[in-house]
Amino acid sequence: MSFLQQANIGVQSLSPYQAGKPIEELERELGISNIIKLASNENPFGFPESAKQAIINQLDELTRYPDANGFELKMAVSKKFGVNPNQITLGNGSNDLLELFAHTFASEHDEVIYSQYAFIVYPLVSKAINAIAKEIPAKNWGHDLDGFLAAITAKTKLIFIANPNNPTGNFLTEAEIDAFLAKVPANVIVVLDEAYTEFTAANERVNSFGLLAKYPNLIVSRSLSKAYGLAGLRIGYAVSNPEIADLLNRVRQPFNCNSLALTSAIAVMNDDDFVAKVAENNRNEMAKYEAFCQQHSLEYIPSKGNFITIDFKQPAAPIYDALLREGVIVRPIAGYGMPNHLRISIGLPEENQRFFTALKKVLKLA
Ligand SMILES: Cc1ncc(COP(=O)(O)O)c(C=O)c1O
Repeated sequence: MSFLQQANIGVQSLSPYQAGKPIEELERELGISNIIKLASNENPFGFPESAKQAIINQLDELTRYPDANGFELKMAVSKKFGVNPNQITLGNGSNDLLELFAHTFASEHDEVIYSQYAFIVYPLVSKAINAIAKEIPAKNWGHDLDGFLAAITAKTKLIFIANPNNPTGNFLTEAEIDAFLAKVPANVIVVLDEAYTEFTAANERVNSFGLLAKYPNLIVSRSLSKAYGLAGLRIGYAVSNPEIADLLNRVRQPFNCNSLALTSAIAVMNDDDFVAKVAENNRNEMAKYEAFCQQHSLEYIPSKGNFITIDFKQPAAPIYDALLREGVIVRPIAGYGMPNHLRISIGLPEENQRFFTALKKVLKLA
């Protein structure tokens, strides 16, 4: 007997999320060492020292449940960004929050809108609750917000926007987002997923928390996995209207954020030097990727994130495999409908140099 028919109808159409290949897996498969991974948009500087110390201080407390309300972390977020603690919802990574938004606001047969080539978790969380996932064709690989507006109906409950978007790196300006929000019906919840916002130059970044006062239907979602370097601990936060935060809190699992994640997040929230160093490396190294692509006539999508997506104009799977044999793991994105592209996370200077050398060898570039 197959249990497929027993699953929620939306779940029947899902495929599991494909994560970046772990280094240990490639070591086992090819028997090679000295592998670099530029596949999961992780922080190349590793786990921040400030967070390590916070974890050591917390170890003896691990027998206790974490603070279900994450009081201290909410205070830290509140202080850093000038928002009220009652506007904040904490998540076990921002993925957890994305799922929470869908569970809280969309029911079976409601519509959820997101863009083609947008973060793959949006269709995943929408289909899992058997909502109608409306994917709007992309414009230049990015969000077509006019297309979003045209797709809104009385059944639309939720809109997901990733800014910058993963895997394309596209970016919408504050003026574009503001103009869009002004036209969205007030009862439709708009999620602005800013998992990569810290990599965007400060003068270009959207003042998304500022927009909350104007648009009570907006939820801003942030991650500590990227610029803050806590991917393995799983922690993210959302800022919204307090009424929305209260609703999210009703659905949230009571202890969704573990003690080590909470305590580490507080430490890195106050570690501005770490985040500034990470963002600066990203800026400098992104410029090298752009120069490399231009020099070798490789087309890329300009990115405001910590990754760049290259269009090889031919199936990218053999290039991906050849890079693996050189000990370089990048990310195929055929699952996004982009079989000719590979996404490369920006690493440390020496890692990026390894990638350039490996790609030159694989593509036989001069
Ligand atoms: C656009 C976007 N949003 C959210 C996430 C989720 O990140 P996390 O759950 O680690 O906070 C990711 C992770 O890759 C992402 O690319």
